[in-house]
Amino acid sequence: MRPMSTHPIETDVDIPANHVIVLFGATGDLARRKILPGLYHLALAGLLPKAYRIIGSAPPAFAISNEDFRTLARESVDQFSDLAPDGGVWDSFVASLSFVASSAEDGSALLAAIEEAEAAIGGDVSRLFHLAVPPDAVLGLVTMVGGSELRRNARVILEKPFGVDLASAKTLNVVIKANFDETQVFRIDHFLGKESIDNILALRFANRFFEPLWNRDHVRYVQIDVPETITIEGRAAFYEPTGAFRDMVVSHLFQVLGFIAMEQPTSLEARPLRDEVHKVFESIRPIDPTHVVRGQYDGYRDEVGVAPDSQTETFIALRVEVENTRWKGVPFYLRTGKALAESRQVITIGFEEPVMRLFSFASNVPENHGNRLVVDFADPGSIHAHFFAKRPGPEMRLDAAQMTFNYAGSFQKAHHLEAYEYLILEAMLGKRTLFTRSDGIERLWEASANLLASPPAVERYAQGSWGPQSAIDLIAPNSWCLPE
Ligand code: BG6
Repeated sequence: MRPMSTHPIETDVDIPANHVIVLFGATGDLARRKILPGLYHLALAGLLPKAYRIIGSAPPAFAISNEDFRTLARESVDQFSDLAPDGGVWDSFVASLSFVASSAEDGSALLAAIEEAEAAIGGDVSRLFHLAVPPDAVLGLVTMVGGSELRRNARVILEKPFGVDLASAKTLNVVIKANFDETQVFRIDHFLGKESIDNILALRFANRFFEPLWNRDHVRYVQIDVPETITIEGRAAFYEPTGAFRDMVVSHLFQVLGFIAMEQPTSLEARPLRDEVHKVFESIRPIDPTHVVRGQYDGYRDEVGVAPDSQTETFIALRVEVENTRWKGVPFYLRTGKALAESRQVITIGFEEPVMRLFSFASNVPENHGNRLVVDFADPGSIHAHFFAKRPGPEMRLDAAQMTFNYAGSFQKAHHLEAYEYLILEAMLGKRTLFTRSDGIERLWEASANLLASPPAVERYAQGSWGPQSAIDLIAPNSWCLPE
């Protein structure tokens, strides 16, 4: 369960200027699960602007009344957060909510509602459009907002997937660039809003311990492992044409890889930091389909909306090579899938063994379990350093030992924001550091082209397992660090 604050954050954090926030797809899954509860948490934490209005929007076929939108917001908070929808903050939050139908063809009623809200707030008011809509609705809305008065003083948050391949990503980017200045565009990847992912920057660049070892001379492998126990949970319409690679690897795991593999940026500003991530993406060798295992869980084809002969992968494991001076020869193993044995989000940096072996080890120490740094980035997050220590007793015999840092026990939970909340706040502040860039996304699709053109056949796996055996063989003689 995520730690939640019900108190304003008492630090000198920036508070955004006054805003009208427009939530397209306001009745959809993402709005209900993440965005509405997230905005309410920001309100409770004192991080929403002094004056704000939130306008939900959806096509006329999904239109609801203001009252129904407020009820939907209450139900969302009830169902998807630990926050209580009551008290003074809730009253003013719910009073700020209204609903206006709009479509790609007609945004006039929405414009009128925004202008009315801005007049009520008074002075300079920024606009934030959050497009929490299916991929096929994005181009129409981008053109509608960008081609009308709506775009004045506006920032736009876009959701993945950013295309399904290089050609479609380029088309999308052309349309976005024709309608907005790049400084107005915020492509969200919620993994980059996770505390422990951002903490990779601190771990590496604010400390002297790790960075000297963070290279091919000392690192044997890197693993980014995100197994999930959930199935596709009725999301066949989205998942069947998407699959695990597009849903998780291109969108999330590669971004994490970017933070692990990047050089130190000259500052944490958006341009230098994203330049360094981009250089990593430039260094990723085209993915070789023979370095990839695709799996599909038993029963996937029986899900409503899934083809009986579906070749969509619900599991993927791959070996990625980053060919630059720091990383050449170090394999990056990426794995994710649905209906697996555990839900975890783990990065492991596996280190080389010392040159000389002076010691004997306790018999229960598994092979390949030398020095590892393990970043568990599921909220609230932790870091474990695995090393060897002398076992107490008369003999010089070593056993596996661990040093652990836990977010939950180390910092005030009140300061914790969930990934979406943090990123929406950053977008309102105009801070683009943690958002992805169009050229980076295009580069990732380019590196994925061979795999998309010649994907290996999907292999079946049992629900609750760790995926096909071939995924274990893929990384031999190394082994996956999960299960522990
Ligand atoms: C989403 C994917 O982007 O991320 C889902 O579409 C996945 O398939 C989810 O389950 C994982 O997110 P979280 O919040 O569990 O880190």
